[in-house]
Amino acid sequence: MEYQPLKIRNRTARIPIVQGGMGVGVSRSSLAGAVARAGGVGIISSAQIGYDEPDFEEDTEGCNIRAIEKHVRLAREQADAGLVGVNVMVALQHYADHVRAAVRAGADLVVCGAGLPADLPELVGDSDTAIAPIVSTRKAASLLLRMWDRKYKRTADMLVIEGPLAGGHLGFSPEQLTDIPALAYDREIRGILEEKRIFEEKYNVSIPVVLGGAVSDSARVRQVMDMGLDGVQAATRFVATRECDASPAYKQAYIQASEEDVTIIKSPVGMPGRAIRNSFIRRAEREQIPTERCFRCIKKCNPVRIPYCITQALIHAVKGDLENGLIFCGADVGKIREITTVEAVIHELMGG
Ligand SMILES: Cc1cc2nc3c(=O)[nH]c(=O)nc-3n(C[C@H](O)[C@H](O)[C@H](O)COP(=O)(O)O)c2cc1C
Repeated sequence: MEYQPLKIRNRTARIPIVQGGMGVGVSRSSLAGAVARAGGVGIISSAQIGYDEPDFEEDTEGCNIRAIEKHVRLAREQADAGLVGVNVMVALQHYADHVRAAVRAGADLVVCGAGLPADLPELVGDSDTAIAPIVSTRKAASLLLRMWDRKYKRTADMLVIEGPLAGGHLGFSPEQLTDIPALAYDREIRGILEEKRIFEEKYNVSIPVVLGGAVSDSARVRQVMDMGLDGVQAATRFVATRECDASPAYKQAYIQASEEDVTIIKSPVGMPGRAIRNSFIRRAEREQIPTERCFRCIKKCNPVRIPYCITQALIHAVKGDLENGLIFCGADVGKIREITTVEAVIHELMGG
């Protein structure tokens, strides 16, 4: 299938696929570098990215900042001039520091979700790093773009729409997640496209929009492109690849999961999240899992009140301790049957 390249400000990705950022440690330089090399946009997640640095326990934030710089550099070395970005969650305590580290490291773009990145233009300043907020509703897109326009006389370089079937934290209420019919969400997408056109005209630029959330095969990619979007953001499909940075056990959990194993959890971040209902989740439903150590990672987290520490649970998972680990996934995880390569996933999504 022939699709147009994805143009983000003054850069171009040959293939209009953005690999969604996946914390903790699931998308680092190996995955992002491979996606970029294959022509897509590789995204490193900054969330506890330094979890395997030797002094992580003593200097968590120092390690994370160092690891952002290291993984951008390593991804670039593999990327063969492909685009490499960093995903930073707004809900993180050190969100601003992570964005600044990504800019310093020379990331092509920063993608920010899990909250509205109200001050993102200020954080990247006049650097060459493009800015791409993640929005799930027209209301959020409108609010943010108007705010940036008023306060910074600037607009987004790309928009990522994350739909209700995506993995990880979700920008919807639990009720909305069970209630949004696909057609109603298509209306929301068209609304977001209308909003961005206002600012394309005002700033005389083009703002590409990509859609993520169960865009997991070539037929769905075709539909998305036919709706007038410029590309797709895919994450779950990239987990079961050789290049993905997660442990083999994590990838195996994706292969074994069926549609019925997918559940919506209430994350300590204060948002719902989609995950594989494994023994860890079942245990967390029954009892509070003690926090070994607070990493002060999330702005709104109250360590006394939460059912478990999300950082601890995600680190266990990425290392392969699934008994104690939380495994985020998109709604289409049940379709994954084997471990393959980034090249093969991209080839398939593009329709061969
Ligand atoms: C394991 C996993 C971890 C994720 N972590 C993050 C994250 O740290 N930040 C973020 O903005 N989105 C995160 N997401 C969402 C993805 O970036 C992506 O937008 C979404 O999952 C796309 O849908 P798909 O997985 O169905 O392709 C995560 C998704 C998964 C599956």
